[in-house]
Amino acid sequence: MAEYVSPDARIFDADFDWEAAAAQDAKPINPIAELARARVSRRDFIKSAIASGAAVSAAGYVFGAAGTAQAQSASAGGRLVSLKVNGQTRRVDVMSQETLAFTLRYKLGLTGTKLGCDRAECGACTVLLDGMPTYSCSMLTLTVRNKAITTIEGVKGKDGGLHPVQKAFVKELSPQCGFCTPGQVMSAVALLKHNPKPTRDEARHAMSGNLCRCGAYENYLDGVMRAAREA
Ligand code: FES
Ligand code: FES
Repeated sequence: MAEYVSPDARIFDADFDWEAAAAQDAKPINPIAELARARVSRRDFIKSAIASGAAVSAAGYVFGAAGTAQAQSASAGGRLVSLKVNGQTRRVDVMSQETLAFTLRYKLGLTGTKLGCDRAECGACTVLLDGMPTYSCSMLTLTVRNKAITTIEGVKGKDGGLHPVQKAFVKELSPQCGFCTPGQVMSAVALLKHNPKPTRDEARHAMSGNLCRCGAYENYLDGVMRAAREA
């Protein structure tokens, strides 16, 4: 079984291309800002989708339902790919610069994956790729076509209900506002799969890639340790 490495450690251990990252920083891809720039209301979007009767492409949502030059160039650069998400094969049109977080949230409707910093700092967007926790905001979708992607929507217990980690988080009142919770769950699930009985320090290290603005770190750690005890 592969050794567990937390997502932030993986970024710093890997041959991270800082020049490419800096170039991307110069032109940040911020889906919320793109939506605001496009000035497309939800009503316009729904009208357009109903009128076309076609499968909804997020490129239309982001760049304008009427089909602007941007949308045409985006779709020209898009590629229809198959992704393995939560045990299902999902076909989706993907642009070359598109991040996995964007695809999951805005094209596949899996909004349980949150976007916090959108730059590999907070862990809100953590998903599992072949069981390893990964920041989906910093992973190009086209690079994960052969990997099994698990999002918070695909996490469940053996009985189909809540996963032991989720139950433990509830019992320990771990979430405060809850925004970071999906990412915390994904990291904890990955940790316990690779190391079912971690020490508190090991758990703290494994969860260190998930920031919590509410400061509920000890509550989340209590949840991880409870899940390890009760699993
Ligand atoms: S949104 Fe991906 S690490 Fe913050
Ligand atoms: S519970 Fe609010 S950010 Fe973590």
